[in-house]
Amino acid sequence: MMPEAPIGVFDSGLGGLTVVRELRRALPKEKIVYFGDIARLPYGIKSESQIRNFSCENTEFLLHRNVKAIVIACNSSSSAAYSFLKSRFPLPIIDVIRPAAEWAVQATRNRKIGVMATQATVASDAYRKAIAKLDKNVHVFSHACPLLVPFVEEGILEGSLIESVLSRYLKPLMKRKMDTIILGCTHYPLLRKTIQKLVGIKVKLIDSAPAAVSELKEILTEQHGFSKQKGKGSFQVFVSDLPGSFLNIGSKFLGEPLNDVKVVRFKYEITKNGKWVL
Ligand code: DGL
Repeated sequence: MMPEAPIGVFDSGLGGLTVVRELRRALPKEKIVYFGDIARLPYGIKSESQIRNFSCENTEFLLHRNVKAIVIACNSSSSAAYSFLKSRFPLPIIDVIRPAAEWAVQATRNRKIGVMATQATVASDAYRKAIAKLDKNVHVFSHACPLLVPFVEEGILEGSLIESVLSRYLKPLMKRKMDTIILGCTHYPLLRKTIQKLVGIKVKLIDSAPAAVSELKEILTEQHGFSKQKGKGSFQVFVSDLPGSFLNIGSKFLGEPLNDVKVVRFKYEITKNGKWVL
């Protein structure tokens, strides 16, 4: 591993910046290259094969930036593409599902874990499978919350509108007395305050960002991959489209001003079998 190479992070859009925020806090010297696939957002309502294709292209883009490791900062991509990317690309790849599942299993007392996620993540059953590998006796109930991503992208994080949507999504989880809830989409940590207000302080909310960063730290330790540079590491953002609201909302996700954002345009062709290729 080349310690001075950047860490690559990708997401379908802005959500992965919550993972970058945690990365910048925990590993301030590291250089980070972020790719947000805004042009093809949302991933969470798309098919597994489509999300896998997009994830592959995002990974190839980051490899061209010579990254030393990749964090898939998107639950929908992690559930659809993690194993595929790991088998295909020869560098450390960290997903957000297994680390969050581990933290949730450690946190639960009554062995009832709820998962709020996109439709794609819920359909993949990835959290139940990851948790079952750690503890077969944990009951997992996953609930798709498709309206939350548009609310977060609009910057509506508090107030009666989002509270009524959240109450509807949280009802089946609270009815089943889940004592731990995984925020199974990288957009949801921005709703943490409102969710905690609705479920009460006794319910533990698990954010996949610190869990994934902790796994990355372990890998960098094992492979002597930490940057040794002095001062704060750089941060570059690439997106496949740049809507007017991106810089403003992106700064909220990141917790610091976003300025250096570059747009990359992929060129796609459709092959005979209908597959999109770069
Ligand atoms: N950030 C994505 C995730 O964690 C959700 C956004 C989307 O649907 O593309 O699943």
